[in-house]
Amino acid sequence: MNYHQIPSPCYVLEEEKLIKNLELIDSVQKQADITVILALKGFAMYSAFPLVRKYLKGATASSLFEANLIREELGGELHLYFPVYQDHEFADSIKNATHITFNSLTQWQRYQQQTINAKISPGLRINPEYSPVETDIYNPASLTSRLGIRSETLGDTLPPGIEGLHCHNLCESDSHALSTTLAQIEKLFGHHLDHIKWLNLGGGHLLTRKGYDIEHFIEVMTKFKAKYPHLDIYIEPSSAIAWETGFLKATVLDLIPTPGPIIAMLDVSFTAHMPDCLEMPYKPRIRGARDPQPGETAYRMGGLTCLAGDVMGMGDYYFDRPLEIGDEIILEDMIHYTMVKTSMFNGVKHPSIGILRSGEFELIREFEYEDFKRRLS
Ligand SMILES: Cc1ncc(COP(=O)(O)O)c(C=O)c1O
Repeated sequence: MNYHQIPSPCYVLEEEKLIKNLELIDSVQKQADITVILALKGFAMYSAFPLVRKYLKGATASSLFEANLIREELGGELHLYFPVYQDHEFADSIKNATHITFNSLTQWQRYQQQTINAKISPGLRINPEYSPVETDIYNPASLTSRLGIRSETLGDTLPPGIEGLHCHNLCESDSHALSTTLAQIEKLFGHHLDHIKWLNLGGGHLLTRKGYDIEHFIEVMTKFKAKYPHLDIYIEPSSAIAWETGFLKATVLDLIPTPGPIIAMLDVSFTAHMPDCLEMPYKPRIRGARDPQPGETAYRMGGLTCLAGDVMGMGDYYFDRPLEIGDEIILEDMIHYTMVKTSMFNGVKHPSIGILRSGEFELIREFEYEDFKRRLS
C-alpha cells in the first residue's frame, strides 16, 4: 500500500485488524459464556460500527451524547454508567436503555422511580479497593476514589430493586488481575452476589494484546460462573476492541537542531491529537524507527502547537536514513482513546479520519476552520 495517497495528518483505521480483534473477542465471549459490549469512551468511530454490530450485542455510554451515538449508529443493548446523572437530561439519557448503573446510593434514590417506570435494570457501581493500575489518574479503586461505592458504605443488604453490580478497576490488564478482582469482589461484596442478576466487570481486559492468556481468562470466568450460575456476566472494554487497529499519519514539516536530538516538527500535536501520550505518559511506536544507540542521530518528535511541552519527551527515535522535510511518519496504535480525546487547541487542523480496506483507502471525514469556530462563540 502506498501511503502517499492518504492525506496528512490522518487517523487511519486498518479494517482487517479491527475484524481480527472482534473475531477473537467474539470467540472468547462464546467460550466463556459472557457478554462483551463496547465502551464508547475509548472507541467511538461510528463509521466502523456496522462491523462492531456483527460481533457485539451492545454498548455502554458514560454520557448523554455517547448514549445518543449508540442509539443512532449502533443499536442493541444500551448500558448506561454516568459518574453522575443530571436532572435536565435524565429522561433523554435513559431512552431505550436496558441497564443502568448508579455511582452512589444518593443517585439511585434520586432516579429510582424514573428507572423503575422505564423498566430498565438498575445496578450499582462498587469500589473493590483493588486495582493493578499504577498510574494514579487511571486508578478508579483507591480509598478516596469518587467512582463506585465501598463495601462499608453499601452495608449488609442491597437497596430493594437493585439487580446488578458494576466494577471497573482494570486498565490494559491481564487475566491474573481479573482473577484477583473476582476474589476481592467475593471478599467484600460476596454476600450480595446471590441477590443480583448481573455483574458487569468493566473494561481494562486487554484480551487482544499479544501474549494475553485467553485460556486462563476463560478458565477464570468459567469457574466463577459455575459458582454463580444465575449471574449474567458482562465486560465492557474499549481498548481491547480497537487495540493496534490503526495509525496516525503525519508529515515532517521542519527539522530543528538542538545540542541534543534533532527535533522533527510534525503536522500533528501531542497535546491536541495524542494527549494520552502525555497523560500516561508513553512513547508511541513509529513504523521503521527504533531507539537510538549511543552515537547515533536521535530525532525527537515535536508537535505544531506553541505549548513548550508539545513534544514526545519519553524518548527519541532513530531512522535508517536521515529524516527530511516532507517525510511521512506513521505513529502506530492511534485509534483507541487517541481519537476520542483530541482537541482543537491552538486552532491547529484536526487530523482527517479514514479507513484502509484491502489496500484501498477511504477518506471518511475532513475537518475545517468551521469545526474550530463552531466549538467557540
Ligand atoms: C466504567 C468504564 N468502563 C469501561 C472502560 C473501558 O476501559 P478499557 O478501554 O481500558 O477497556 C472504562 C475506561 O475508563 C471505564 O471507566
